[in-house]
Amino acid sequence: MTESTELPLVLFPDPVLRRETAPITEFDEALAEVVEGMLARMFASKGVGLAGPQVGLSRRIFVFNPEGDPAKPELNRVMINPLITRRGGKRTFHEEGCLSLPGVYAEIQRPESCTIEYRDAAGTARTEELEGFVARIVQHEYDHLEGVLIVDRMTPADKLRNRSALAELRAQYEPSGP
Ligand code: CO
Repeated sequence: MTESTELPLVLFPDPVLRRETAPITEFDEALAEVVEGMLARMFASKGVGLAGPQVGLSRRIFVFNPEGDPAKPELNRVMINPLITRRGGKRTFHEEGCLSLPGVYAEIQRPESCTIEYRDAAGTARTEELEGFVARIVQHEYDHLEGVLIVDRMTPADKLRNRSALAELRAQYEPSGP
C-alpha cells in the first residue's frame, strides 16, 4: 500500500479542484487500485471522505468512511458516477473541514437527508437514502465533483474567521508545471 499512499493531496486554491469531472466508464482492476489509493490517502490525511479532484483525478468518484478509522474497513464506501436525486429534511448547520483546506473550518448549512444514485466499484447501480452525518459527508464530497468547496458555502462570519488560513493557503500555492 505504500505506493498508493503516495497519491498527492491537491490543496486550495489549485484550479484542479474547480475543474469539470468526467464519469468513470471502466469498472476494472485499475479502478480498484484508484479506490484503494484514495482510501489510503484519506486515512493517511486523517479524513472521513475524499473526492477524485482532491487527488488530481477529474473523475466522478468519492470514497468515505464515517469514522475515518482504517481499522474499520467494513465502513469504507465508494460512490461512482453519483447523482443526488433528492435533498430533504431540515437544513441544519454543522462544522465541516476539508482535506484540501487544512486549517479551515466552517459551519455549513445542508439538508439533513438526501437520496443518491451511484455505481459501486463493481459497476452495480445502487440507490440509497441517507440522513445525518453520512448524508452530510456525501453532500460535501458530491460538491467536490461539481467544483464546489466549503469556501463557497461559508457564512460571511466564517469567511472572516478563516481569512488568515485562506490567505496562507493562497500564499503557499505553487502552480505545478504548464
Ligand atoms: Co472536502
